[in-house]
Amino acid sequence: LWRISASEFQLRTYQGQFLTCDGEGNSVYATAESPSTKETFEIERKNNNQVHIKLKNGPYLQVTIGNQLTADYPGTPGWNENSATFEMTIVANNLHGDYQLANGYGHNKAKDVLRRHRNSFITIEDFKFLYRHGINAVRIPVGWWIAFDPNPPAPFVGGALEALDNAFSWAQDYNIKCIIDLHAAPGSQNGMEHSASRDGTTGWPTSDYISQTLNIIDFLASRYATHPALLGIELLNEPSAASVPLDVLVSYYKQGYQIVRKYSPTAYVIICQRIGNADPLELYQANVGSHNIVVDLHYYNLFDTFFVNMSAVDNIQFIYKSRESQLQALNGANGPLVFIGEWVNEWNFTSGSQTDYQDFGRAQLGVYDAASFGWAYWTLKNDRKHWDFEWNIKNNYLPFGSSPSLKIFNTLTPLGLVFSWLYLRQIL
Ligand SMILES: *[C@@H]1O[C@H](CO)[C@@H](O)[C@H](O)[C@H]1NC(C)=O
Repeated sequence: LWRISASEFQLRTYQGQFLTCDGEGNSVYATAESPSTKETFEIERKNNNQVHIKLKNGPYLQVTIGNQLTADYPGTPGWNENSATFEMTIVANNLHGDYQLANGYGHNKAKDVLRRHRNSFITIEDFKFLYRHGINAVRIPVGWWIAFDPNPPAPFVGGALEALDNAFSWAQDYNIKCIIDLHAAPGSQNGMEHSASRDGTTGWPTSDYISQTLNIIDFLASRYATHPALLGIELLNEPSAASVPLDVLVSYYKQGYQIVRKYSPTAYVIICQRIGNADPLELYQANVGSHNIVVDLHYYNLFDTFFVNMSAVDNIQFIYKSRESQLQALNGANGPLVFIGEWVNEWNFTSGSQTDYQDFGRAQLGVYDAASFGWAYWTLKNDRKHWDFEWNIKNNYLPFGSSPSLKIFNTLTPLGLVFSWLYLRQIL
């Protein structure tokens, strides 16, 4: 569902075609590759899940015998059972990402919302907090439109570049290093809200989007390569294994590596494992670049039915048995460095006590500590308290201070909506 305005929408099928109607009396087909006027419908909504769909200045659509939709309902339908009243179901992805925020508010309001957000969400005080807790780096997610600041393509609004500049300068003040993480690539590399997908699809792996993405990497590398706070550039966050073929991804990573090297002989180039059904070893064997290369793995005991009914003890055992052995194998793989670039002290287990969380956190910190590059917590600040690193520290849910000589690292999301962390031990 593409929202054009509060009342106008375009409807897209799973194959990518848009519903189209030539006018009054005509049937609706899903044939259009891109949307324009004939693909734009007005939707009226009642009680959240009942809708009427009509042509602009035309009749309402109705279902006819034979499962056709036609634009010929006589008059105005009521909300009783009739052939022009549809039930709307949000099936999978109820997206609340940067795209939806900016598109939903409209340019002026979104600009104001994001300005206030950026002014208050991550400030120099947060860097002071990081410094006081021995954290030595931040992983900062950015969206592709940052390269077009201050006037990025609609619906995105400017301001992210200034926020990134601020983060670099605050980081420098506190002797903290920065990783820039391309979290949202043009077209979306995983269909999720945090990659700024418009409608849940993954459009990224086309040559056009890939060359645009390489231009974004060029922009970021050229701007920050000589900044003393730069640690590395992560070429793409969480590409989807279901939609992004390995050979396409490896070719992109190799080109991205060369672009970063054009500007910096030493900045780390970080490549992220595919999410879904993919073995991280695939990137260790890919020969992406010759030096200062890092593979980023994300370790969540979440997002998979595998974890659904696990007890606290099951969760902790999983960290020791599965995560630890994988980490050791990759550390010893004589390839890129290992980076646990996202993890969180949260699980599906719903009745965890403070002690349970401390035990889980201690296990994770202990195991991820062995990653040859480091780790990053997702995230520094979050509206869900267990995802909020500062909350965990202040409320003693994560026995962070008990690990000796911990140094960390972290992040902002595309808009600076999230800030996650990383612990870098061997480097700094
Ligand atoms: C979790 O446990 C519930 C209750 O025993 C069961 O109905 C459900 O199928 C289990 N889910 C999974 C994914 O194992």
